[in-house]
Amino acid sequence: MKLLVSGGAGFIGSNFVRQRVNDHRDEVVVLDKLTYAGRPENLQDLGDAVTLVQGAIEDPAKVAQAIGDGVDAIVNFAAETHVDRSISGPEAFVETNVRGSLVLLEAAREHGVGRYVQISTDEVYGSIEEGSFTEESPLVTSSPYSASKAGADLLVQSYLHTYGLETVICRGSNNYGPYQYPEKLIPLMVLNALHGDKLPVYGDGLNVRNWLFVEDFGRGISHVLAHGTPGEVYNVGGPDECTNIEVVREILAQTGNDESLIEYVTDRPGHDRRYSLGSEKVRALGWEAQVRFAEGLRRTVAWYRDNAWWWEPIRSGEYREYYERHYGRSLG
Ligand code: NAD
Ligand code: DAU
Repeated sequence: MKLLVSGGAGFIGSNFVRQRVNDHRDEVVVLDKLTYAGRPENLQDLGDAVTLVQGAIEDPAKVAQAIGDGVDAIVNFAAETHVDRSISGPEAFVETNVRGSLVLLEAAREHGVGRYVQISTDEVYGSIEEGSFTEESPLVTSSPYSASKAGADLLVQSYLHTYGLETVICRGSNNYGPYQYPEKLIPLMVLNALHGDKLPVYGDGLNVRNWLFVEDFGRGISHVLAHGTPGEVYNVGGPDECTNIEVVREILAQTGNDESLIEYVTDRPGHDRRYSLGSEKVRALGWEAQVRFAEGLRRTVAWYRDNAWWWEPIRSGEYREYYERHYGRSLG
């Protein structure tokens, strides 16, 4: 299969491209703006099977260049993804997540692309105190990030109804694993713990997230790409739910630290209390999560411990400035 993977140089996208090249022998074109979160290093082990086109999804000429003489499917990961950054600067989220998705959809239609998979998130459903969201749950968004993702999902569905483009949407829960930029909870806490920096926990630390190992999400997306019904939404949720403080304590234990590194800090505005996804529909396609949280976290901590080449340039670059601005303290 020949795939266009937009946002394929980021965390989930690069793990997905690795699976498609190694397990499916696909030819992959990655279209990526290479923002702070996108790095060619994330794909460097994949050699000639991957062609990287640097460009924005909201640029029609770059999208046309990436499609070239045709692709079998587009899988769109490209997005601004960090909730905290969406609170301090929402414009980029609308530009990339909404307008960029529109440009990709138009290109898919013009070039007769057979299938379009939109990578979306459980955050479009908002927070749930008990039980789990299904694909029928209403979209109730809390942050500019989740609002922009929900807007894109609605556009994607309109392209099926209006133009007959074969679209499917995959909504994942919180991913973790190798190559995740350290602004997100797990890599941030792992790297801070490895460096003896404080671990900043928002609010009371009792918010709950539904953790999904990134390779399991990739397998779920591949199931939806191959077997999903056009026009449908598929939730892909992780097998375990934990409070943030449980996650942080486990990271401290795995890195040989004690709880004196924990620092409770001001809560995120509009902070969703709990996410939980029901995944029966994607299970009916044959998918099952394979990695429980305890094992996935061990693998993730080991990867960060063993791959300083990957995070050292990040910790001394844009991320350091972001961290100091956002948390009001320096990294060690
Ligand atoms: P990420 O921030 O690590 O990667 C995003 C990638 O998109 C980067 O490579 C970046 O350079 C690229 N990009 C950003 N703006 C672009 C633009 N205008 N044009 C082209 N490329 C652009 O994010 P991630 O965590 O890998 O998330 C990937 C997708 O999965 C996103 O759509 C996100 O909403 C969704 N998602 C993420 C999670 C999660 O837990 N991380 C869970 C469910 C869904
Ligand atoms: O649920 C899927 C979503 O998961 C994706 O769509 C988003 O792209 C992704 O960023 C993620 O959103 P969250 O807001 O859940 O992830 P984040 O890693 O930012 O935060 C996870 C939890 O940890 C959340 O309750 C906030 C808390 N947190 C986060 C940071 C960065 C802290 O307590 N301290 C922190 O420093």
